[in-house]
Amino acid sequence: MAATKNGEARNRVDGYQKVTGQAKYAGEWQPPGLLHGVVLNSTIAKGKILHIETEKALQLDGVLQVFTHENRPPLAHYDKSYQDLDAPPGTPFRPLFDNKILFNMQPIALVVAESLELARYAASLVTVNYEKKQHEVDFEKQLQHAFIPKDYKAVAPPEPWGSPAEAYHDAKHRLSATYTHPSQHHHPMEPHASTVLWEENGRITVYDKIQGALNSQKYLMGVFGLAQEDVRVLSPFVGGAFGSGLRPQYQLFLATMAALELRCSVRVVLSRPQMFSFGHRPKTHQRFSLAASEDGQLQAMIQEVYGETSRFEDYSENVISWPLVLYNCANASLSYKLVGLDVYTPLDMRAPGGASGIFALECAMDELAYQVGMNPLDFRLKNYAEKDQFEDKPFSSKELRECFRQGAEKFGWKNRPNQPRTMQEGHELIGWGLANGAWEANQKPAHAKAVLAVDGKLTVSSATADIGTGTYTIMSQVAAETMGLELEQVTFKLGDSSLPKAPLEGGSATASSVGSAVREACRQLGKKLLELAQEVDGSPLKDIPFWEVEMEAGQLRLKKDPTKAMALTDILHQNQKDSLAATIDSQPSEEQDNYAIYSHSAVFVEVRVDEALGTVRVSRMVNAIAGGRILNPKTAKSQILGGMVWGVGMALEEESVMDTHYGRFINHDLAGYHIPVNADLQELDVIFVEEEDDIVNPIGAKGLGEVGNVAVAPAIVNAIFHATGKRFRDLPVTVDKILENDEV
Ligand code: MOS
Repeated sequence: MAATKNGEARNRVDGYQKVTGQAKYAGEWQPPGLLHGVVLNSTIAKGKILHIETEKALQLDGVLQVFTHENRPPLAHYDKSYQDLDAPPGTPFRPLFDNKILFNMQPIALVVAESLELARYAASLVTVNYEKKQHEVDFEKQLQHAFIPKDYKAVAPPEPWGSPAEAYHDAKHRLSATYTHPSQHHHPMEPHASTVLWEENGRITVYDKIQGALNSQKYLMGVFGLAQEDVRVLSPFVGGAFGSGLRPQYQLFLATMAALELRCSVRVVLSRPQMFSFGHRPKTHQRFSLAASEDGQLQAMIQEVYGETSRFEDYSENVISWPLVLYNCANASLSYKLVGLDVYTPLDMRAPGGASGIFALECAMDELAYQVGMNPLDFRLKNYAEKDQFEDKPFSSKELRECFRQGAEKFGWKNRPNQPRTMQEGHELIGWGLANGAWEANQKPAHAKAVLAVDGKLTVSSATADIGTGTYTIMSQVAAETMGLELEQVTFKLGDSSLPKAPLEGGSATASSVGSAVREACRQLGKKLLELAQEVDGSPLKDIPFWEVEMEAGQLRLKKDPTKAMALTDILHQNQKDSLAATIDSQPSEEQDNYAIYSHSAVFVEVRVDEALGTVRVSRMVNAIAGGRILNPKTAKSQILGGMVWGVGMALEEESVMDTHYGRFINHDLAGYHIPVNADLQELDVIFVEEEDDIVNPIGAKGLGEVGNVAVAPAIVNAIFHATGKRFRDLPVTVDKILENDEV
């Protein structure tokens, strides 16, 4: 059954707790006798530790221990710890494993003391002797040594089809250009933190910043050989993550190790500079060769991608499917290679692979549109993908044309002169650009439990997370709607490893996966309520099958004759029950395998460029989204706005600058790493187009965490071209690049 009616715009159910400071984050728990751990990071990028001198630190009153690779407890399960985690696959870094230094800012010691101040001071007294080796962190220099990853995480490039090289050569219009972007870090407001509450019986309760509490629990069980009942992980509130919490990070290991060894509660919070010491969006270097016929039909698409990885793990992401998801072309070839550097392994960051791939693709498509002499919108419509050519499947739904139509209308695209450098106001050149994007809309298996109490309160739970996305709210709404209750009667619980199993919150899959589980759990509960209702003497619902009843206004009632009804609470009363529960395990339908399931976006941008000052202002943006059914237009809009702000950062500001001499990110604070602030943002408009999809999942929702972001950066860069007539192919387009580039 397709639920196409969009949900209500509601405030966040956890909003009050958040704005009043009652929502506690992982680093804010204060158990009695809490000890504080401060992490010491390496100052070289490669080599080994010869000696760590901890004596001075240990002499201080109140310093309990300095853990290093030399005195850490033996950990039998260290190697197995990441097996079957629901996290990006791989063999991640193991803190304090041995004396080898694999990257700069590697955690090499944990100083534990009675106060944070003391621990920090003590850490400053620890000295380290290294044997340095020559590191290699220069991505461009290492391109020549690129290799094909052994295991592709997402998708291996398909065999080329058609004859891309010939078709390219023979085509009337050709474009060949290289696009790059730097490494970027996630930078959630809440830094990574873990507070480990140690109990006398040896059990631990851990507050961790993580996108899936079950991941951290499994990790700790694996590394420290703990039984499931001995470790509970809680993460009821997460202050942003963007992928940085997909894997347990090193503070979790260090805090837990210290707590178990010292038999005390321990907290470890990473500092902002330390947020540069693990996981980043990898640099990419992408060469696009596109060709079109005289009338603008794509003839060839060749994408060659180089992505950054570490020396100790192959990180790969899906940068390459996008040309054939967004366009159809008879001749195509895609390739993806990795460049290994002495850095920490990259990590999925909001729209991993998509943000990179679509940036380059959509800038290249824009360049080719100008060569053909077509309006960039007409050029995209002419080459619109009617099916997903990458996997050769039809789309389950795709209202991208409607996104283009509504977005263009709202933006006023038809008034745009196609010629660049034709609009000006005062000392600013004005440019209008666009791009389109897509993101996967997956449903993953998820469990949920729904419990109705005799007072009419419904509690639904699932071990998912709310990383600021609105999960608490939309899950409460799905439950309220399914059960015919008011939102205020519903409590949704998440962020607890003891709750029914759910996938981590990532990949824009939570609304779809957990939402479906919540709906099914509530329907299951409805069925059980009907059975109970039928046991009551004189029941108005005797012999009625579930599909003939509905749950509305707190009642279970006959659809065709709503006067035949019983209040849900009465059903429990009359059966002498305090509560009734239903638990389900929801699975994606097999039918989904036959379809390409994506959300889509069309982004229209106005920029104002002051060439004398080199500044770019993004004065207007319209982002039209086809994301299936919208569960809550308010939280949904916030998700898309966040993606748009993020896109401004990617296009104009964000860059983790690698100092190749030291092999370290040099701008490692929020003064040096620029993200958009309010002054960088003006008019932001979000449109949700109607999209019905009864294949994607039972609730028809596609997830919005990433699709709002993917097409923003290229739309901005294309607008800068339209304003100035100059192409910028290396992100971010900063003041210096605008000032430098005077070729028109
Ligand atoms: Mo996201 S990068 O799926 O947390």
